[in-house]
Amino acid sequence: MKQIKWGIIGPGNIARRFAQGLRAVEGAVPYAIGSRNLDRAEEFAREHGFEKAYGSYEELVNDPALDAVYVATPHPMHEEAVLLCLDHGKAVLCEKPFAVNALQAQNMIARARDKKVFLMEAMWTRFLPAVKKAMQLINDGAIGRVRHVSADFGFRAEVDPAGRLFDPKLAGGALLDVGIYPLSFCSMVFAGQPDGIQSHLEIGSTGVDEVAIAQLFYPEGRSAQVMAAIRLNTLQDGIILGEEGSIRLMEFWHAQSLTLINKDGEQRFDLPYHAGGFEFEIREVVDCLNRGLVESPLMPLDETLALARAMDQIRYDNKLRYPFEEEQA
Ligand SMILES: NC(=O)c1ccc[n+]([C@@H]2O[C@H](COP(=O)([O-])OP(=O)(O)OC[C@H]3O[C@@H](n4cnc5c(N)ncnc54)[C@H](OP(=O)(O)O)[C@@H]3O)[C@@H](O)[C@H]2O)c1
Repeated sequence: MKQIKWGIIGPGNIARRFAQGLRAVEGAVPYAIGSRNLDRAEEFAREHGFEKAYGSYEELVNDPALDAVYVATPHPMHEEAVLLCLDHGKAVLCEKPFAVNALQAQNMIARARDKKVFLMEAMWTRFLPAVKKAMQLINDGAIGRVRHVSADFGFRAEVDPAGRLFDPKLAGGALLDVGIYPLSFCSMVFAGQPDGIQSHLEIGSTGVDEVAIAQLFYPEGRSAQVMAAIRLNTLQDGIILGEEGSIRLMEFWHAQSLTLINKDGEQRFDLPYHAGGFEFEIREVVDCLNRGLVESPLMPLDETLALARAMDQIRYDNKLRYPFEEEQA
């Protein structure tokens, strides 16, 4: 197995959890940090056991020993960082939401395909053992034909107009920050996209959506209901209803257990993890790179693009455009 030397662009909040995951994966080497500020890079590298620290993202991607980069900047900066990595031949795992709109997602995907370099959206939830177990049960017919999914992810944050969650300039709002989790969950379960979406966004004082709700309609009478919020705590359940049973993943986005109910009664499966949960998506990238793949079969780029289009539709149907999109228009 080839040892994959990892770098991180944007050593902020979530990068810390990623560093924990890296240390838990055989074949993954914590190697280098790229920050806009050298002191920050050096401090993060020291704290988390990375060998190299760079004071710019350009210097990081010019390191010839670097194999793969985790892009962990706020979402409006994903595109620029991802293109920089791809242009230097570095494999990329890009934080969710992959991009702020489908236009950016399309650019990033086209570049990866053109350069034949690996690219994946860091939708870590679908690589968790509990979520994989749910999919295995569905595929084995444990709940019959799936007819409906409901999933929600909401939490109550204090309004901070300059913060990433609430600032329109940083593509704030519930839909992009956490709505991608239930949308991606439905897309995974149904292995396809809806042919109709009805939605509503509750716009707050800073001009971004504080609550997002959507109903998704799939062919052959299948449907889903999703909700996301940044000013409201929700139960964070993922519920899959089949014609012969149901599966419930409590706090589905970081699930460590699930409950199956069908004709045999109720059964609980515990599938805990111990390194924060990012270790499974990292393992997927390491495996793909070792197999010479440029895309993950479990999180394909066409699906990432379809999800970006669905989020565009929901935002545009509700007249939510970010300031940089008005400039683009
Ligand atoms: N998977 C998950 O569970 C999860 C959880 C939280 C967030 N996320 C996603 O991860 C991404 C980063 O979130 P975060 O909370 O870690 O963000 P953050 O701490 O606010 O920012 C991450 C880093 O990005 C760099 N950066 C580059 N340009 C920036 C700019 N214009 N403004 C602010 N920072 C900038 C900064 O590092 P330097 O200046 O040092 O380069 C900063 O430390 C987001 O897309 C978010 O949706 C994922």
